[in-house]
Amino acid sequence: MILNKDIDCGTDYDPKNPITALTSLECVEPEIQSLYDACNHWEQNLTITKIAQGSYATILRMQMKDKPNVYTVWKLIPLKNKSGKGCRAPDQTFIEDAAAEIKALALMAEIEGFVEFRSARVLRGSMPRLLQNLNTDWEIGHPDEQTEIKYSKEQKWLLVEMSDAGTDLETLLKKGFPNGELLHTTEKGAKLAIQQTWDIFWGTAEALARGEALAKFEHRDLHPGNICITRRTMPPDEPDKHTIQKNTDLEVTVIDYTLSRATLENGEVLANSMKVGSIFEQSSLDPTDDRQYSMYRHMKSLIDGDPNAQHGERWHQYVPMTNIMWLYHILKFLLDNTEFFCANPTCKAFTIPKERKMAKRLAKILARMDPINLSEWLYLSAGDVVSEELTYKAGTERGVVSPDINDFADDDEIMAKHRRARWARCTMQSTARGSGKGQRGGRVRARSPQ
Ligand SMILES: Nc1ncnc2c1ncn2[C@@H]1O[C@H](COP(=O)(O)OP(=O)(O)O)[C@@H](O)[C@H]1O
Ligand SMILES: [Mg+2]
Repeated sequence: MILNKDIDCGTDYDPKNPITALTSLECVEPEIQSLYDACNHWEQNLTITKIAQGSYATILRMQMKDKPNVYTVWKLIPLKNKSGKGCRAPDQTFIEDAAAEIKALALMAEIEGFVEFRSARVLRGSMPRLLQNLNTDWEIGHPDEQTEIKYSKEQKWLLVEMSDAGTDLETLLKKGFPNGELLHTTEKGAKLAIQQTWDIFWGTAEALARGEALAKFEHRDLHPGNICITRRTMPPDEPDKHTIQKNTDLEVTVIDYTLSRATLENGEVLANSMKVGSIFEQSSLDPTDDRQYSMYRHMKSLIDGDPNAQHGERWHQYVPMTNIMWLYHILKFLLDNTEFFCANPTCKAFTIPKERKMAKRLAKILARMDPINLSEWLYLSAGDVVSEELTYKAGTERGVVSPDINDFADDDEIMAKHRRARWARCTMQSTARGSGKGQRGGRVRARSPQ
């Protein structure tokens, strides 16, 4: 598999002109276009709907007027320079971080479980009337989400075209699919059946495991808003020794690599600079949001603690344990929304043995991934979580990391990283405890999770 297709920086990169960090990429159009002209063109040919407001972007669906079944999803990201006018705007993305995100999108697009990347271009201009109207309509349905921000004529934007990954998990559990269909309904109003929880969790873990093995990928922001679900139209592949058996037609796609880390085939490391320090300082009265915020601090403790890290490039390190932290967050969220699930490990409410087994197994895996017990973790990566499940399923419960890990991690370097991460695991015990639940106080909520 060639993973770095079309993502090399061209020769046009000019450090004195920061936007060329984007326009020199093979996967980005070289010319900067007018946002106003682009909008006029869209209005003639496309039906545009706003489908989401992210923390850093507006998400639009564009349908061909003459072929409504043909549509793609567009992410419009306002950009800012490292210094100068607008560099402090909290809702805008540094050009260098946008370049890392677009390269990660192009890189991961070839891997199952990651969103398909189609095209990207840079636009310039204030927000045209068409987009302002979409924002006004959006605010009527979403009064908590503020979208009315003034942009100057010189504002630059990155517009990214992707495939439709479906409905994100957070929206799905609150509102169902766009046609109003809910995942699961019972008299008690439970949102997920245990089989659905199982499939969504393992679909996510397998995507991360593939990302780790093929691109040393860490997502670093995998909350429920960044996992999209569709119903499978094709029958699933026959399970083999590398896949965990699924029970439903749900398909998982991991999106939003704004904070992600990955390695290109030429060795270049993509990583967000994590300069938005406020992500480490947020708290919330909502337990799920608060747990998400604590995940950023857990990651920071883990990454800051590696003595091999060069200062300034800490976030370039490959520490796949961060993927486990986010798998913990997702599994906790899923189980909290699962019918009959309770913390009691016997899970007697499940009368069907297969379902009871799934519930007990997931409860056990959840406890093993709790970042509060980092020092006792048996896993070092999402690949470990998946291969241990495959080993367990195969009935060979010998050792935690199965020999099959080599089928996921195909080179010695990854195993060396695992060993380094194992070291970090031992030394990070005290830091992780210090930043754990119940340790925060008086922190300011900087932005709502998306
Ligand atoms: N390819 C996609 N398909 C379907 N929905 C998407 C897609 N990309 C983004 N979304 C929706 O837009 C929301 C915000 O997008 P995201 O890329 O996560 O932006 P942000 O970086 O601002 O969080 C997501 O939670 C999801 O609901
Ligand atoms: Mg997001």
